[in-house]
Amino acid sequence: MGARKAYNKMSPGYNDRHSTATVGRMRAREMRLIREFINQKDNPLVLDVGCGTGYHLHFAGSMIGIDISEGMLEKAAGSGKPVVQAAAEALPLKDESIGHALCFFAVLNMCDFHKAIRELNRVLKWKGLVLLSVASAWDRGYRFRHKLVTEHRPHDEELGIGGERLRMHLFTRKELEDAFKGNGFKVEHFGSSFVFQKPEWKSVGGFRPGEAVKLLLEKIVPGTKHYGSVYFAVFRKVF
Ligand SMILES: C[S@@+](CC[C@H](N)C(=O)[O-])C[C@H]1O[C@@H](n2cnc3c(N)ncnc32)[C@H](O)[C@@H]1O
Repeated sequence: MGARKAYNKMSPGYNDRHSTATVGRMRAREMRLIREFINQKDNPLVLDVGCGTGYHLHFAGSMIGIDISEGMLEKAAGSGKPVVQAAAEALPLKDESIGHALCFFAVLNMCDFHKAIRELNRVLKWKGLVLLSVASAWDRGYRFRHKLVTEHRPHDEELGIGGERLRMHLFTRKELEDAFKGNGFKVEHFGSSFVFQKPEWKSVGGFRPGEAVKLLLEKIVPGTKHYGSVYFAVFRKVF
């Protein structure tokens, strides 16, 4: 129950801690995925797995949030959308009851992702989408120099969150895609961001010197597209 404890402790300050310009860039990217892939006119029922304080619960008409931390859910309840305490690995939902699912901001890094993906397949309707963002294997150390000299492979890291030690699994692109493909999904979209500059988690408002430049740089430098610390992906249930 590491994640539950950690996020219960972190929940009071979570929104402030993540109100930085670099996290803003990440949010913008997630929102682009929602706008591009979820057709609001169909009014699908959207499940937000690991909804946290409910940042994404405002962006579709019919949404349900699920999270393991009651502290985070207390904040998410402010969205007015139904929220339920549950684990991603055991979703309290009927088979094929959900239109699309969101899994943003590292949720799959900290749960049993094979089980969670199987559960997503079970609760989604045919052709339903999973929109996600996760920390990638390039995240190690967040330093480009480190990325160049470190073998690119999936690995686990221990992070201190809310004073708790938390195990984070960092994905390679292949591993993430294979996990979804092996559980009845196909890849609709794959991208990454934060090649030279990590998202800044501390409570600072705008960009610090250099941050915006480094984020701009990855758009200009050829070949950096898939080496970001954060992967953004969309998978479609096909069977
Ligand atoms: C970094 S926060 C992201 C929250 C939200 N998606 C966002 O974008 O702000 C990760 C969330 O995943 C939740 N979480 C971690 N492991 C989980 C699990 N096994 N099942 C459900 N939620 C989990 C945590 O409680 C936390 O709220």
